[in-house]
Amino acid sequence: MPKASMDAVLRKALKKVVPKPAERKRLEALAAKALELANKEALKHDAYAIIAGSLTRNTWLPGKMEFDLFILFKPSVPREQLEKLGLRMGKDIMRKLGGRAVTEYAEHPYTSGCVRGLNIDIVPCYELESTEQLKSSVDRTPFHVRYIEKRLPPELSNDVRLLKQFCTAAGVYGADAKTEGFSGYVCELMVIRYGKFSKVLKAVSGWRPGEVTDIENFYNKNDHSGLRKMFKLNPLILIDPTDKTRNTAAAVSVESFCKLRSSARRFLEKPYAAAFFPKTKKPMRLKELKAVMKRRESTLIAVSFRPPAIVPDIMWPQLRRFGERLESILKENDFDVLRRGVYTDCGTLAVVLIEMESRTLPRVRKRVGPSVFDEDGTKGFAKKYKGAAINGPFVEDGFWVVEVERQFRTAEDKISDSLGDPLKELDAKGIPSHVAKAIASRGLGVTSDLKKVDLLAERKKEFGVFLREYFEKEDVA
Ligand code: UTP
Ligand code: MN
Ligand code: MN
Repeated sequence: MPKASMDAVLRKALKKVVPKPAERKRLEALAAKALELANKEALKHDAYAIIAGSLTRNTWLPGKMEFDLFILFKPSVPREQLEKLGLRMGKDIMRKLGGRAVTEYAEHPYTSGCVRGLNIDIVPCYELESTEQLKSSVDRTPFHVRYIEKRLPPELSNDVRLLKQFCTAAGVYGADAKTEGFSGYVCELMVIRYGKFSKVLKAVSGWRPGEVTDIENFYNKNDHSGLRKMFKLNPLILIDPTDKTRNTAAAVSVESFCKLRSSARRFLEKPYAAAFFPKTKKPMRLKELKAVMKRRESTLIAVSFRPPAIVPDIMWPQLRRFGERLESILKENDFDVLRRGVYTDCGTLAVVLIEMESRTLPRVRKRVGPSVFDEDGTKGFAKKYKGAAINGPFVEDGFWVVEVERQFRTAEDKISDSLGDPLKELDAKGIPSHVAKAIASRGLGVTSDLKKVDLLAERKKEFGVFLREYFEKEDVA
């Protein structure tokens, strides 16, 4: 790889990822003001405030004009008190800054606000001596602040910015439930561990699932297999330098892991500017959708509903589980599911897309029963199908078999019937609680009509983009 081209691409990207002095001033001025307001109030409660997150590290991106304010309370303050005070102070600070505030719920509630296009997270936590006294994961943040301050060389902060932007472009930046990717802190640790951006990419391109990074050498090299057992199914095990019991990259899914690795490999082979700022994908609309389905000769089913008013970090896992459950219900009923995908804007639309291998199942349905030698089973089987069989029960390879008429011949019918049940039964079927409530009270749409699927894409451009991504999977091997 010619070094000149790498330098040229990085220089170009840096121009966009390093904040302009005016942007920096605006954010820093607001942070100073917020900090002062927070400390004035905090003092009354024997607490104090700090700026945490990327602003303190000089690793924030101009695309995300945000900073994080943490209020540290003494451990003697009860949890409810801390939450109440934290929210009240958060609201109060936002009001004094002349901005809007909303209460968000992570592990515990915090305030998220917006002042003239700048975003602020105001989070209460405990001031602790060591991470062994942790009451909640937000209490780790002050430790992270101190660690990064000590260990991230200032001359590498722009390399963190490149890495964050590179991850953003690859769709893997953020530890939230939707993305399941690499947090800001993880990006910073990677730069501490591997060095400048190009070195990070080189390391990433050689990663293998189960990769262990233990910056502070808490563990013996021979213990790494133990760590892999401890953090089973985590493709990246990045031991938190402030807490050796924690994998700070626990949110990273195998999919995000493979995506970043493949982006890194592609970039190293031939550096290109779009690796940082990709073109936005066009929504897939009816004409293309029809063509792609004609080529695939499969059947597409869209199950759509209005999502419940819950935070994305709860919505996404529920929606994914709902998709899994729909697929298993169909499989239990002889349907062959090729693949599925889920989409939501966490506002007005949630969709589970299910692609079927065939449109209908035959009218006849075969049920295989117990062995002929199992007497109790035999009795039960005979009783169950008495009068219902269109053929049998007869014996096949030593087992009882019966043929009955199938009730639902299309996946749509099966899904509509199954999800048309009252709430209690939806719960019993393992439909995730918030989803069950939403569809029991407001219903849902089930369709295999591509025109109706396209109407969803007309309503939500993003859904159209999701359709394209569903059908045009990138090679990440
Ligand atoms: P951020 O998500 O803001 O990350 O969380 P960041 O490092 O500042 O990176 P960017 O540039 O904004 O993307 C800041 C800190 O706040 C904690 C995280 O652990 C992180 O250390 N945090 C954030 C929470 O504890 N809870 C939250 O709900 C959000
Ligand atoms: Mn931040
Ligand atoms: Mn934040």
